[in-house]
Amino acid sequence: PATPSSPMTAHVGKHPGEPNVADPALIADPFGGYGALREKGAVVRGRFVDDSPVWFVTRFDEVREVLRDPRFVNDPAVVSADGTRENPLTRLLDMLGMPEHLHVYMRGSILNNDAPDHTRLRRLVSRAFTARKIMDLRPRVEEIADDLLDRLPEHAEDGVVDLLEHFAYPLPITVICELVGIAEEDRPQWRAWGAELITMDPERVRRVFPAMIEHIHALVSERRGALTDDLISELIRAHDDDGGRLSDVEMVTMILTLVLAGHETTAHLITNGTAALLTHPDQLDLLRSDPALLPPAVHELMRWCGPVHMTQLRYAAEDADIAGTRIRKGEAVQLLLVAANRDPRHYADPDRLDLTRHPAGRAEDHVGFGHGMHYCLGASLARQEGEVAFGRLFARYPRLSLAVDPADLQRAPVPGSWRLTALPVRLQD
Ligand code: HEM
Repeated sequence: PATPSSPMTAHVGKHPGEPNVADPALIADPFGGYGALREKGAVVRGRFVDDSPVWFVTRFDEVREVLRDPRFVNDPAVVSADGTRENPLTRLLDMLGMPEHLHVYMRGSILNNDAPDHTRLRRLVSRAFTARKIMDLRPRVEEIADDLLDRLPEHAEDGVVDLLEHFAYPLPITVICELVGIAEEDRPQWRAWGAELITMDPERVRRVFPAMIEHIHALVSERRGALTDDLISELIRAHDDDGGRLSDVEMVTMILTLVLAGHETTAHLITNGTAALLTHPDQLDLLRSDPALLPPAVHELMRWCGPVHMTQLRYAAEDADIAGTRIRKGEAVQLLLVAANRDPRHYADPDRLDLTRHPAGRAEDHVGFGHGMHYCLGASLARQEGEVAFGRLFARYPRLSLAVDPADLQRAPVPGSWRLTALPVRLQD
């Protein structure tokens, strides 16, 4: 984890006035820290973990503008002078100890590609995540949630249960693994891998990543012999039947991305949201008195305590002026979702949690899932899991309470995110 001596924080403080995303002060208080930057300007100079310069985009309108602007691209190779090496992505992978022969797997990711490759990759998987498909999944999500909630008392020690470990993690990982086609016995391994990767600790990343890649290759070979209706089988069909619509590397990276993006983030939406509701009893009462408030409540929790604080880097493919700042070709841009989601230019009283802020039936009004071409593929799934999780949890355990002082809830010191390390609660069943 990012301790003062870790490679992640090696460059913090080197450039006064240019905040580094790994700065422990920013990680400890992202709302205050990035909020102050937002009030300094819509586009502000900062530093990425590897010390390379980056433009922070801080305000709601400008964040959405840049995420819609085709002059900003995701693939650093498009703008880096020598094609592939020496760009922030490869430097970060080097910092994380990622062996060079595995960099292709990161470059093959849907998030590191632009049209036409991004369009091709996204089309292949988006059919599995349409609103209709997600609606059909709902009864199964509810069943998984209810089953986990029934078993919570088995995990209590002195009346206290860690809700992250026994509810928030297993719910989304079960859902995404069933969808993708990861066998039940492999899921604990995936969860452990995800937890290791997210620390961004080079030693762990170096150990874990090659094992994951090898495992997925083996999984694909095995599944080839017996295709089913899961997503892995669908990707294999796209790869085999249609003249290389999907390369080997792309297929492996897609499986990796879906499983990791599909459970880690959602688990933390569930714990962050539960902690927020337990510490805002008036809001929890509102929600309890009107279950129709669940969908807008999830929008508000995503805005107020969403787990992802910034997007991947974008790069200017040509010179571009944003809010009066000239961003030059090749320069990196970081969209600060956390600052945009509390922009007083867009929201009245932005720091207040207000579940009635987003009228039912209206589209969500926040950037916690990003915006534009790379808008989160799993947003409707994550929202549904959030609705089911909060709805079922508070109905099943109406006297649920935090088992620690809110100030003592611990967070993982990872740049760009808001992840509790545990959520100890009393069920009072
Ligand atoms: C993209 C957040 C759940 C899969 C994104 C982005 C954000 C995000 C901010 C855009 C990143 C960028 O533009 O650089 C979240 C949050 C989640 C969540 C906060 C839970 C609360 C999920 C789930 C899946 C998923 C359940 C499973 C399918 C993806 C994929 C992309 C993505 C594949 C890349 C899309 C593309 O590049 O076109 N997510 N996500 N996410 N998310 Fe999610």
